[in-house]
Amino acid sequence: MATVFVSGTLPGDGVARLGAVHRVVQDEGGIASAAFTACSGEVEAIVALLTDRIDAALLARAPRVRVVANVAVGVDNVDLAACEARNVVVTNTPDVLTEATADLAFGLLLAAARRIAEGDRLVRAGGFTGWTPTFMLGTRVHGATLGIVGLGRIGRAVATRARGFGMHVLHTESTRVHQPGSINPGPSTQVGLDAMLEVADFVSIHCPLTDETRHLFDGARLGRMKVGSVLVNTARGAIVDEGALAHALEHGPLAAAGLDVFEEEPRIHPALLARPNVVLAPHIGSADRPTREAMASKAIDNVIAVLAGGPALTPVVRRDTGG
Ligand code: GLV
Repeated sequence: MATVFVSGTLPGDGVARLGAVHRVVQDEGGIASAAFTACSGEVEAIVALLTDRIDAALLARAPRVRVVANVAVGVDNVDLAACEARNVVVTNTPDVLTEATADLAFGLLLAAARRIAEGDRLVRAGGFTGWTPTFMLGTRVHGATLGIVGLGRIGRAVATRARGFGMHVLHTESTRVHQPGSINPGPSTQVGLDAMLEVADFVSIHCPLTDETRHLFDGARLGRMKVGSVLVNTARGAIVDEGALAHALEHGPLAAAGLDVFEEEPRIHPALLARPNVVLAPHIGSADRPTREAMASKAIDNVIAVLAGGPALTPVVRRDTGG
């Protein structure tokens, strides 16, 4: 029986299943908690949240750790090189959150384009004084061009939704080949990012956060976007320079944006908070109940598999067996 630290409360029965075979220490405070410090010498597995920073210093405090199971598909909170150097397996939760995240991305696209959140605020404030032909005009969605930055699993699922809205889809590089059995998103044309920005009415970001993609959307790139276009980000906040985005929303070329992720969560850039034409969601891309339960289950199953001496189910960093 190994000691497993579980960061926070997870939905579903995964933690109970884990507790049947291992000693579980769980704390809302995550790896910053006194509970983690108290068990760090014994802990052999960490079920981590994307709010936990897993780096060399953390691993030095917990030298017996063999596996870090991140309850997220993104692993930018984990120093993968530090884990590899210590032969620590890292896992994530791909596939189970693809459709939920695509749903939210499309919801933000619609809400930003058609000013739904802004309209809700206006109605509640008593500002709806009657229908007029020029009131709250927004951006047309059907028939428009959608640019997908990073055609991986989630990008493809967004493309599928876009086809249903009669949109013309462009994408930058594919990060994964089409899997048999998954829904074919239909025709999509590969273009360079800057060429895409010139013509896309909507741009939706679906690439991981890496050194290459940090501030991929800086002031210069945002300035190249089509006049009146809409940016959606459900990937990671730091892919977009928030100060530059607020400027592009105020002075053009952007008409609106829909964001689920932020550079320094839970802090929101004050200039964004001041803009009426950005829809702000509290990082809920994967937050439908079955999806979150499946993510927790996948992380726990990875821990159980690795602690039993088997291979991880969804590894990002594998154990070096010396073979
Ligand atoms: C959520 O943001 C995730 O990476 O799963």
